[in-house]
Amino acid sequence: MSALRFQQPDGDATLQDWQHVHNAIIPTHVLSLEGVRERSERHHLEVAYLDDTLVGCSTVRPPTDDTSTATVIARVLSAHRGQGLGEALYGRGLHRARELGATVIETVVLSSNEDGLRFAQQHGFIETERYLLPGDTIPWIDLRLSRP
Ligand SMILES: CC(C)(COP(=O)(O)OP(=O)(O)OC[C@H]1O[C@@H](n2cnc3c(N)ncnc32)[C@H](O)[C@@H]1OP(=O)(O)O)[C@@H](O)C(=O)NCCC(=O)NCCS
Repeated sequence: MSALRFQQPDGDATLQDWQHVHNAIIPTHVLSLEGVRERSERHHLEVAYLDDTLVGCSTVRPPTDDTSTATVIARVLSAHRGQGLGEALYGRGLHRARELGATVIETVVLSSNEDGLRFAQQHGFIETERYLLPGDTIPWIDLRLSRP
């Protein structure tokens, strides 16, 4: 039976794995390794492996001093979807966000990521905003968890 494990990126190899998943899923916002390293200092990042195969990653943006809102984003490479890995990553992220004191949970989905939008809606998120960032052609969708 395959073993699912999670790791906080702690060096170039695991940062590159996180970067690979992020950039495969969000090709409109390709991050450099330096950009990922900088994020790893501000956000709680995880990488997921099924045995030794890279399958996904997650981001938890913790609440800031003046808000109680955290953002939780799960990402699973398309070849590995539909077997509960997203649920596992999301559940860990949600738990972490609550541990960090969040009372409001948000997520953000690129509108072209239909799987991501359906997953968020199935997990109780409601769309709050749809917007284009400068230079973008594909809108982002912000969503908020409707039950605390
Ligand atoms: C959102 C995302 C992480 C979900 O990843 P995933 O691994 O496919 O998630 P799961 O397998 O847990 O759930 C997906 C579906 O598979 C189903 N599923 C889970 N385990 C299953 C199994 N063993 N057999 C059959 N179906 C199963 C779930 O019920 C769910 O069905 P639904 O879409 O009808 O609700 C993935 O689609 C993704 O990376 N999207 C782009 C990133 C994104 O937009 N993230 C924001 C969301 S927080």
